[in-house]
Amino acid sequence: MDRRDALKRMGLGLAAVAMAGIAPRTHAAILKDRAKDKKRLVFYFTATGNSLFVARQFSDNPLSIPQEVKKGSQVFEADEIGFVFPDYASAAPVIVQEFLAKNTFKASYLFAIVTFGNASVMVAEWVRDYAKEKGVNFNYINSILMVDNYLPVFDMNEQMKIDKHVDESLAKLLEDVGAQKNYVQAADLGFFNQDMLKGMQDQHFSMTADRLLELKKDRCVECMTCEKVCPHKNFSLGNDGLQFAGKCEYCLACVHACPQKALTLKSNWPGAPGERNPEARYRNPNVSLMDIIKSNRQ
Ligand SMILES: Cc1cc2nc3c(=O)[nH]c(=O)nc-3n(C[C@H](O)[C@H](O)[C@H](O)COP(=O)(O)O)c2cc1C
Repeated sequence: MDRRDALKRMGLGLAAVAMAGIAPRTHAAILKDRAKDKKRLVFYFTATGNSLFVARQFSDNPLSIPQEVKKGSQVFEADEIGFVFPDYASAAPVIVQEFLAKNTFKASYLFAIVTFGNASVMVAEWVRDYAKEKGVNFNYINSILMVDNYLPVFDMNEQMKIDKHVDESLAKLLEDVGAQKNYVQAADLGFFNQDMLKGMQDQHFSMTADRLLELKKDRCVECMTCEKVCPHKNFSLGNDGLQFAGKCEYCLACVHACPQKALTLKSNWPGAPGERNPEARYRNPNVSLMDIIKSNRQ
């Protein structure tokens, strides 16, 4: 068959597809179909929905880490196992660290996607090294830029205006994982150095609810949304109204979800972060409050 005949046949093929009302399949759709033949487990942790939104692109039924940790030590087996979680000071949240350390993951392809808001610095290498120490050897670790929910530094109203090209980045990540690419994003320290990061991580990893949070009592209506979204059940109702105490993930789920904006970050002790804009809060627009509650409620 010469080139002209081949083109003619291709044209007839496309015309037949168009007449039958069938859209030509995209590369992404083909990769998704191929992935269906495999068993893929995806675990996620989220405070404001970014990581849940991303996890849902990789699995129809991603599993919440705060729900899984309640079940104790488990052995998970699949063709592919993935993890999606936020970057906290260029490291994984403590609850994710513990989940990786205390369970067994058996899969020929292990991947992690870290959602971040401003600078992922060396998070992929950090996750690789931490997980390796715990016996989990990742094939692929990459990050995706989204709204930065870190209230000490960012005003959510400003963050939500920025186009962070999430769709384009997601398409690339889906393609990489669909093709079982081997890759770990290289560190880019920029203005940071290892000591600075270590200092920030130590502060994050040792946070407690009473050190971090302040309640505007006149605003609180005791709806207990904070308690429902907290992965550590740090909130309760006492004689004196809402109370909080305990080891804190520093995820800010409670602060972002409070419908009264009654929770804020303390700024009255050395190192207390304070807030950029206490009246601006965030939740990923594709994720509901009920989704966050189902993910984190203890
Ligand atoms: C305690 C804390 C620390 C964070 N540290 C970083 C950071 O070092 N770099 C960064 O780019 N984003 C950082 N972020 C932003 C989050 O990683 C980002 O907004 C993420 O997408 C939130 O995911 P989620 O909506 O699933 O909770 C931090 C957020 C919090 C709450």
